[in-house]
Amino acid sequence: MNMVAQRIRGQGILIFSWVSLCVSILLNKRDMLFEKENARRTGGNLILGPQEEHVNDKLMCLKETEVIKAMETGLFPPAMHFFKAKGLIEQSAVFSILKDMPKGGLLHVHDYAILSVDWLVYNASYMPDCYICFCPKWTVQFKFSSPSPPTNVPPCSEWILLETYRKILEDVAEFDKSLLRNLTLVTDTPEETYLTQAFIWNKFEIIFNAASGIINYAPVFKSYFYQGLLELYEDNVQYVELRVLLQQVYELDGSLHDKFWSVAAYEEVAKQFVKDHPDFVGAKIIYTTHRKQSISRIEEAIRTAMALRTKFPDTVAGFDLVGWEDGGYSLWELKKALILPKTLGNHLPYFFHAGETNWEGISVDKNVLDALLLNTSRIGHGFALAKHSEARRLALKENIPVEVCPISNQVLMLVLDLRNHPAAFLLSEGQQVVVASDDPSIFGAKGLSYDFYEIFMGVGGMSADLKTLKQLVLNSLKYSSMQPDEKDRALKIWQKKWDHFIAQFGSFFPKGC
Ligand SMILES: *[C@@H]1O[C@H](CO)[C@@H](O)[C@H](O)[C@H]1NC(C)=O
Ligand SMILES: *[C@@H]1O[C@H](CO)[C@@H](O)[C@H](O)[C@H]1NC(C)=O
Ligand SMILES: *[C@@H]1O[C@H](CO)[C@@H](O)[C@H](O)[C@H]1NC(C)=O
Ligand SMILES: [Zn+2]
Repeated sequence: MNMVAQRIRGQGILIFSWVSLCVSILLNKRDMLFEKENARRTGGNLILGPQEEHVNDKLMCLKETEVIKAMETGLFPPAMHFFKAKGLIEQSAVFSILKDMPKGGLLHVHDYAILSVDWLVYNASYMPDCYICFCPKWTVQFKFSSPSPPTNVPPCSEWILLETYRKILEDVAEFDKSLLRNLTLVTDTPEETYLTQAFIWNKFEIIFNAASGIINYAPVFKSYFYQGLLELYEDNVQYVELRVLLQQVYELDGSLHDKFWSVAAYEEVAKQFVKDHPDFVGAKIIYTTHRKQSISRIEEAIRTAMALRTKFPDTVAGFDLVGWEDGGYSLWELKKALILPKTLGNHLPYFFHAGETNWEGISVDKNVLDALLLNTSRIGHGFALAKHSEARRLALKENIPVEVCPISNQVLMLVLDLRNHPAAFLLSEGQQVVVASDDPSIFGAKGLSYDFYEIFMGVGGMSADLKTLKQLVLNSLKYSSMQPDEKDRALKIWQKKWDHFIAQFGSFFPKGC
């Protein structure tokens, strides 16, 4: 071998070892970066027990299998509109595990949307003395009455007794299906049916109005809440905070009940439910009023909230404003009314919907900062929070969680592909997050499992694991309005269920994993 060749070979060895050294330094740095990132994530610092680790491995294997399959088929449910994805989700092994998982509390859900509409149509509308009327734009309204309701509500038709009407119909099953359609936003063609947010929110309010006619009938009102709790219980939810409008509940003769009656009814039904299901923790309510009313009406509602909380301290958690944020007053416009409790020396916790918008810099977007300024206990949706660094820092520091409702945000047209939901960023930054379902019945969902699926598979990406799930569940108890002793009890009930869930899943061998 000549000298030149020898020299080149020597350099080759030198270069090779130099490269491998650099790679190993890079690798070290890379591992450290990922480790740092993962530690910062929501749940990143939780330490799992050996059995939980084992379950985590299986769960992640199942998740990977489903993601790989979705990449092949091009059908990934979180990237699809929920109305089209629902059937696919129901076939998912991950989804069936999430259904079994004890999910703690549901902290953001509304009064007329906790229970699948099937019950309203197939049970409540079959009760005696139920009337219907047909209104423009293919909508209907309901009313229970005896004797028959005196007058129609223009521009709707005369009231018709449903019992009589069903007797003359050829196809009652088809008619009942049309009633179901009246009570949800579900359609096979969401992209064509709903072109603007203003349009879908209008439809949303029409649905609420139709449902409230049935639900506000006193006997239905109580059963509906009981059945709603049952549906949550069966979906492995242990506790709920319900945002309620406290519209007037009516009797058959048309007499009306006030808000105090309604809260007493909620309290009574929740107590009865816990008595029948001792492993359910309970329910509280958040009194809400529509943000589209006059400021004086809103101020009146705040006074009512204080009075209700004084009368029912164990049940009434606080106050919130509802309705399309872009279509009503912003928090800042309501500041004088909202600081009223403080000036009266009365503590009224707030649970503001805030930042449910795609528009940065408008008043709705600023609601996230204003909500924090007004000492909100939690932020409802906080869809805009990712765009506000100071609000995020404040929320993190003051322990103010964000109630993330992925399906609601998708259906109400804020984001289509849930992998791009801004909560992905919040989770990566370790922001306090709870998962909620907002109006499951109107979206054709049920309980809380569908939203957990979207968070786990879509929003959280491949990094979301059992630690993420456990943290989200623990958050739902921690950030609830329960008193410390109530929280202790809730945690005990939940822990027992969680241990059972882990043990059961640990002994189950999913196909391929
Ligand atoms: C409606 O639900 C109640 C309570 O679960 C039940 O007792 C009743 O039989 C149901 N009625 C119909 C028509 O399904
Ligand atoms: C609501 O129900 C009525 C009565 O059956 C029906 O004519 C109408 O098409 C339904 N609306 C929708 C949106 O399905
Ligand atoms: C919010 O809380 C802070 C700190 O406790 C207090 O100084 C402020 O007055 C409160 N603001 C309102 C509107 O309650
Ligand atoms: Zn809401």
